[in-house]
Formats: sequence, structure tokens, C-alpha cells
Amino acid sequence: MPKLIVVTREGEESTIDGQAGLSVMEVIRDAGIDELLALCGGCCSCATCHVHVDPSFLDQLPAMSEDENDLLDSSDHRNETSRLSCQVQLTDSLDGLKVTIAPED
Ligand code: FES
Repeated sequence: MPKLIVVTREGEESTIDGQAGLSVMEVIRDAGIDELLALCGGCCSCATCHVHVDPSFLDQLPAMSEDENDLLDSSDHRNETSRLSCQVQLTDSLDGLKVTIAPED
């Protein structure tokens, strides 16, 4: 079971036992962390699931789609570690992935 480390906007860190095959957004939401709004339910149209990924994992993540890239552009808090967590699937090889929930836009 891959572990996911989530840091909230307040800086609170939790380690969650994630399920491989779910998106990072689903794992965070299922853990009851409700500040990740994920309003569109994961269909890549809201950008309220924006996270900053620990740089050491960035090159292991799947490439970003054009839609994800466009949506992230709408955020004032985009940086080079930004991803939409509904577009990143948790896998066993991503065990220990650490993400920080981006500030609200
Ligand atoms: S949940 Fe809406 S874009 Fe990810």
C-alpha cells in the first residue's frame, strides 16, 4: 500500500495509507482532508485540487495533459511543482509521495 504524505495549508503533515490506482485527490479526500475541495470530482475542470509536489518526485509523475496545464495557468499559486492531484494516480512506485495543498485561489 503506497503511503502518501499530505501537508495542509496550515502546515499539518499526515501520512495516509493510500490505495494504488486511486488518484492522489481521491486518497486525500477519502482521508477526510476537506480543504482540498476537488469540486469537479476529478474530471480536470476546476483546479481546486491543486497541490505542490515534493520536487524529488516530480520526474516520476506522469506527464501533464494540455488541459491540466491550462487549468493550472488559472491559478495565482502555480509554480514548477504544481500538479492537479486528480490527474496523478498513486502507484506503488510512488510510495512516500509528499504533496502540499496549494493555497486557495
Ligand atoms: S478535482 Fe477538479 S480539476 Fe481536479
